[in-house]
Amino acid sequence: MTIPGFPIYRPRRLRQSPALRRLVAETHLNVDQLILPLFARFGKGVRRPIEAMPGVFQLSPDEVVREAARAQAAGVPAILLFGVPDRKDARASGAYAKNGIVQQTVRLLKKELPPLLVITDVCLCEYMEHGHCGIVSSGKILNDPSLKLLARTAASHAEAGADIVAPSDMMDGRVAAIRAALDENGFTDTPIMSYAAKFASAFYGPFREAAESAPKFGDRRSYQMDAANANEVLREVALDIREGADIVMVKPALAYLDLIHRVKTEFGYPTAAYSVSAEHAMIKAAGARGWIDERAVTLESLLAMRRAGADILITYAATDVAKWLK
Ligand code: PBG
Repeated sequence: MTIPGFPIYRPRRLRQSPALRRLVAETHLNVDQLILPLFARFGKGVRRPIEAMPGVFQLSPDEVVREAARAQAAGVPAILLFGVPDRKDARASGAYAKNGIVQQTVRLLKKELPPLLVITDVCLCEYMEHGHCGIVSSGKILNDPSLKLLARTAASHAEAGADIVAPSDMMDGRVAAIRAALDENGFTDTPIMSYAAKFASAFYGPFREAAESAPKFGDRRSYQMDAANANEVLREVALDIREGADIVMVKPALAYLDLIHRVKTEFGYPTAAYSVSAEHAMIKAAGARGWIDERAVTLESLLAMRRAGADILITYAATDVAKWLK
């Protein structure tokens, strides 16, 4: 690229007015790109605040519908649903129970708000007594035996009416296992949004309170990615695409913009960025103290994810953002 030098070229010419700046803006934030995560738990009329995530709650199914309706009214096209079960065990049976918390809530959402896209998080950690994302034996998280449970979970979500399933466990081969289970059960048209590049991250801290999914021993470093690695992301994403992922995700978002960019550039697939719980908590906490402008920092962060290459933005601020963009 050759550009003329000063004084022929004056970049400030195009920054003189809001209209001029609008005209040359390269990236746009749009309500169509937003997904709102929601946490469901059993009960009626339940709204349990998550301490480290102001504005986020564990909600009973009726309240999930209320919150989802607010998001939909603001223009948000999709929600991402997590389940907090009453009981946990060593086989995560609540994850694929016909009347599990996610399955019940999905049915209600599809009945009450049919046009809203319901995406379900497919993972076992919330349903396992040890809090890991797979079956545990002798202190190890087993890969292949976990695939069956994940596939069963995804199929049961589709059965309940989920529009998209989103595996977040990071077991090898899970996209293929889920694709096969969906197809066998007649859900050939149910897309998979894979958490393809999910890092073992301290930025998930507040989420573990929300989903009650903190591991009881050890950590997730034997299955989630090492924050030091970038080339490995390309292999992870390539693998998931080969296994049948329709949308690929990078998570967390703000500290991983380089990888959002590389994934979008390399594969050109629909790419999602998950602005995770601590990203939300940090902005909320500083905003509440008046140290930063919450709205401006939120919008700038999401715009940065778009500029990096994200097509889809998963954010706890989705409903607020949708209103701000109006
Ligand atoms: C479950 C899961 C996690 C998140 C999404 N799905 C937590 C984890 O892997 O420990 C994190 C989301 C967030 O922090 O907002 N496997």
